[in-house]
Amino acid sequence: MTRIFSGIKPTGHMTLGNYLGAVRQWTEVDQHRGEALFCVVDLHALTVEHDPARVLRLSRQVGTLLLAAGLDPAGCTLFVQSHVDEHARLSYVLECTASDGEMRRMIQYKEKTVQAQAAGESVRLSLLTYPVLMAADILAYGASEVPVGDDQTQHVELTRDLAVRFNQKYGQTFVVPRATRPTVAARVMDLQDPASKMGKTTVGTGGVVFVLDEADVVRKKVMRAVTDSGSGAVEYDREKKPGVANLLEVLAACGGGGTPEELAGSYASYGALKKDVADAVVEVLRPVRERHAELAADPGYLDGVLREGAARARAMARPTVDAAYRAIGLMPAG
Ligand code: AMP
Ligand code: TRP
Repeated sequence: MTRIFSGIKPTGHMTLGNYLGAVRQWTEVDQHRGEALFCVVDLHALTVEHDPARVLRLSRQVGTLLLAAGLDPAGCTLFVQSHVDEHARLSYVLECTASDGEMRRMIQYKEKTVQAQAAGESVRLSLLTYPVLMAADILAYGASEVPVGDDQTQHVELTRDLAVRFNQKYGQTFVVPRATRPTVAARVMDLQDPASKMGKTTVGTGGVVFVLDEADVVRKKVMRAVTDSGSGAVEYDREKKPGVANLLEVLAACGGGGTPEELAGSYASYGALKKDVADAVVEVLRPVRERHAELAADPGYLDGVLREGAARARAMARPTVDAAYRAIGLMPAG
């Protein structure tokens, strides 16, 4: 059976980008298709300046939202990264497989380094080694598929390189995984800045729709989305009209009834397009928000799901990580 693994960081409130780019695929397709594991990757949230209480709060919120979005704990494994030691254990061994140069080439590392320096913050060493921990997340479970948004492609490529290199040097140990992406909305852009990805840590959140935003807030954000100057024809052109293209993709992803190209033809004005996008997004998020409110009222339920998830995950990861330790030359404990 196909093993599937993916993760989400508790660094901010879940966005429409997370939902359309990853989470919806997990709930609607992946959990039914194979043996799937979904992880709240809290160790990754410590790679940039963080507030401990907030990370803790957001870890619970992300876990609750994944259940609200439709992950079924009977059909998949939902757990928190720091509850399973194998991730950090394998990460060290993979650090001994990766090179300093390949880490420094990672786009996300370069971008976040610039951001940290601009904010006068130091760059944590863990930001550099972050992709290795992500590789450990995936390889520990022998996952062959990793459903992620566009921005994670490079990290999954690195994971493949490390798996192949390790296997060649030390013997067949890891499954070589591949990234899978949604057909539309693999990269939802910021509504105020269509050149940038909609991100949960963006400062000034007017262009970011959060899954838990109230309907009127969603509407306002969509209606104020930056479109493009020039003639008002609604066209799907990512290069020349990125704002409109983004709205068309969101509409297509939210059941607008066609591809972005097809939908473009059915609108005479940006205003009409925005109104339909707002309605479609509100309807897609409504059930998730409602279910989240119910689940949040019973925190014990989440705790139980995460406890069982961690136990299952540990049992799956342990043999592979032990095998990697033996293959690389570490002595088994007596
Ligand atoms: P993160 O918020 O970085 O932990 O991302 C969790 C998942 O959501 C990853 O698979 C990302 O690729 C995906 N994702 C994050 N932001 C977006 C976006 N703006 N558009 C599409 N997918 C996204
Ligand atoms: N790096 C991913 C992100 O920023 C999150 C992540 C961590 C992940 N470990 C993973 C995604 C393993 C897929 C598989 O979105």
